[in-house]
Amino acid sequence: MIRFESVGFAYPGSGGRSALTRVTLTVEPGELVAVAGANGSGKSTLARLADGLLRPTSGSVTVDGVDTADDERVWDVRSLVGMVFQDPDDQIVGTIVEEDVAFGPGNLGVAPAELRERVDASLAAVGLSALSRREPHLLSEGQKQRVAIAGALAMRPAYLVLDEPTSMLDPGGRRSVLDLIDGLAHREGHGVLHVSHDATGIARADRVIVLESGCVAYDGTPAGLLSDQAMLARAGIALPEIGVLADALRALGARVPEGTMDAESLVGALWP
Ligand SMILES: Nc1ncnc2c1ncn2[C@@H]1O[C@H](COP(=O)(O)OP(=O)(O)OP(=O)(O)O)[C@@H](O)[C@H]1O
Ligand SMILES: [Mg+2]
Repeated sequence: MIRFESVGFAYPGSGGRSALTRVTLTVEPGELVAVAGANGSGKSTLARLADGLLRPTSGSVTVDGVDTADDERVWDVRSLVGMVFQDPDDQIVGTIVEEDVAFGPGNLGVAPAELRERVDASLAAVGLSALSRREPHLLSEGQKQRVAIAGALAMRPAYLVLDEPTSMLDPGGRRSVLDLIDGLAHREGHGVLHVSHDATGIARADRVIVLESGCVAYDGTPAGLLSDQAMLARAGIALPEIGVLADALRALGARVPEGTMDAESLVGALWP
């Protein structure tokens, strides 16, 4: 598992001002953990600590027992944790899709036959096998983000850390990437840390952590968070319109479960 034990972090030159304070959390294999919070609350810092890009100023981060601060095990941590960022354009390096996906493992010296197998499996996992020879700049933003996820998967990581991977996507692209993230945790057994501003992304997690000024302000179920108006407002999470409608109907006495986010569940609740 990924384990944060009372982690503190201050950026060099920040005058000792902490970006994270006493953060304790775990991400188990097969678990999808969302991280939310207002701008500047420390989400990206937390994500970069999870794969060893940053090292804690106090406390410890371990991945399957390996301390990210151990200089001799840096590559063990990197190979255990795949990282996906917000902007797919920043992450794509290949001139065709399959070359891009092959980039990471190719650099590690993975043999050609295995490389072929990894690229094919990763593209299949993100549903892009048919586009393997396409030029990345001809893809939609959602497809590009799936290429970036395939690139991370080709490294065969146990864990994936995704930092707001859907924030630049249109609703269709967002839904396809959220479905993919859900499946990577719940079907493929990856431990997934998903930084998300988006209520529909948060709703699909097993657990949500809300950061406030670098501290954990909430650690619990998505339904518990999504029904806490005050916490949602503080964390800057806007409910999607169906969620707002569901809340309004509940206030009027309709039997609508807390955390209802999509039209299908709402209709099912109103007309069982
Ligand atoms: N490279 C850096 N050097 C110094 N301070 C930084 C650096 N990166 C972030 N910070 C500061 O650390 C704090 C947490 O930033 P972080 O990027 O982790 O927040 P975030 O929750 O990801 O915000 P956003 O929602 O805007 O992505 C902020 O106060 C930010 O200004
Ligand atoms: Mg961020």
